[in-house]
Amino acid sequence: MLTVHIQNDCTMLEMITHVLNNMNDFELIAQGAEARVYKGIYLGKPTLIKERFEKKYRHADLDKRLTKDRIKAECRAIIRAKAAGIATPAIYLANLERRCIYMEYIENAVILKEFIDKKVSKETNDDRLLNFIAQGLGTIIAKLHLKNIIHGDLTTSNVLLKNIDDDHIKKYKNAANNFVIIDFGLARIESSVEDKAVDLYVLERSLLSAHSEKPLLFSKIFDIYQKHYANKNQCKEIVSKYKEVQLRGRKRLMIG
Ligand SMILES: Nc1ncnc2c1ncn2[C@@H]1O[C@H](COP(=O)(O)OP(=O)(O)OP(=O)(O)O)[C@@H](O)[C@H]1O
Ligand SMILES: [Mg+2]
Repeated sequence: MLTVHIQNDCTMLEMITHVLNNMNDFELIAQGAEARVYKGIYLGKPTLIKERFEKKYRHADLDKRLTKDRIKAECRAIIRAKAAGIATPAIYLANLERRCIYMEYIENAVILKEFIDKKVSKETNDDRLLNFIAQGLGTIIAKLHLKNIIHGDLTTSNVLLKNIDDDHIKKYKNAANNFVIIDFGLARIESSVEDKAVDLYVLERSLLSAHSEKPLLFSKIFDIYQKHYANKNQCKEIVSKYKEVQLRGRKRLMIG
């Protein structure tokens, strides 16, 4: 575990340098195609470091620039979403040279995908659980889109559920309070109706592939989304654009 000895004459910069040089004290918890994710303690708080490693197949300068842009976009979107009242991890530090973001590690949480696989998949009497998930996700995605934030990778692996127990599930009207949205690596904060429709379509495709045993989940989420989308005119445009995007997707799937 990382211990930082703060002496009276230690400046903030020295402290941060010390912490950055001690990434070894962090434990690797996940490795994806783009990033390594570590867990540890930073300035006394449970912290997650997301490090975007070098892509050797890209030209080094281009890789550096793309990575910096993605880190900046990820931080901006997380902060914008938080300001819109959506639970996201707090950002502690972004270090563009070291290609990493330090953020709050969400404790007592379970990944929504695992929750569905373990608790919902085999349940035949699943209405309560599906309504709970739909209420949470539908409300949150509507809030994100109303603020023109596109997540870009809406999957059940990028949603955490915290403090979850039977009581919370029964009071599903407040479900959004139990959801934390993570992984804004593909997010944008400027967006069109088409971008929103595509964001929803990505979610539909990912639900169909990861949770094919619950085919109604997406339509339940989409219903709640429409109820909570305060700009009703724009909501109509999104729904009709969504149908277009879905049709294009189906044609593409048929052609292969
Ligand atoms: N703030 C957090 N608190 C707790 N766990 C987290 C947090 N952020 C990420 N995780 C865990 O780490 C995993 C990977 O994180 P994330 O989804 O951000 O990375 P990724 O999918 O590899 O990134 P990308 O898709 O941007 O390449 C998540 O599925 C989750 O289990
Ligand atoms: Mg992810």
